[in-house]
Amino acid sequence: MLDTQTKEIVKSTIRALKQYGEDITKVFYRELFSRYPQVQGMFDMEKQKNGKQPKALAMAILNAANNIDNLEKSRAFVENIGKTHVRLNVAPEHYPLVGECLLVAIKEVLGEAASDEVIEAWGKAYGEIAEFYIKVEEKIYQARK
Ligand code: HEM
Repeated sequence: MLDTQTKEIVKSTIRALKQYGEDITKVFYRELFSRYPQVQGMFDMEKQKNGKQPKALAMAILNAANNIDNLEKSRAFVENIGKTHVRLNVAPEHYPLVGECLLVAIKEVLGEAASDEVIEAWGKAYGEIAEFYIKVEEKIYQARK
């Protein structure tokens, strides 16, 4: 469970994230593919070019932040993305790589608005969100066996 202060900080940055969501996602992919080229093959690079996918991921971040008090509310949404993830063999060990690059991207795009406090809060929030995704996907992997 996240403490109240962390949740408040995360919620108070949703507006800025909405404004810069696509920029954040673009920086995110740039960092992910340069730091961890081994995961690039999982992604459809055509979607990257036409900008479809940056939008989807940006919306997923906002969706998660909006529901940070109660991630259960986003279960149906996460199950849908989870099916895509499972089809592409996304595994628990991939989540920290994505988290790292997400924080780098938030920091770069928000600039001065991204205090250490904000980054730390988002790190914690991402941890909770990732845990939720991993659990949902575990069930999908189990059901597939
Ligand atoms: C909490 C973290 C994550 C969120 C919120 C998230 C969100 C999303 C969303 C919204 C989509 C689009 C789904 C669709 O169109 O059906 C997607 C697709 C995808 N995700 Fe994630 N994801 C997360 C973590 C990860 C991780 C850790 C990986 C592995 C490196 C990953 C790899 C992918 C891939 C390969 C696709 C398909 C995109 C394509 O076809 O290019 N995701 N994700």
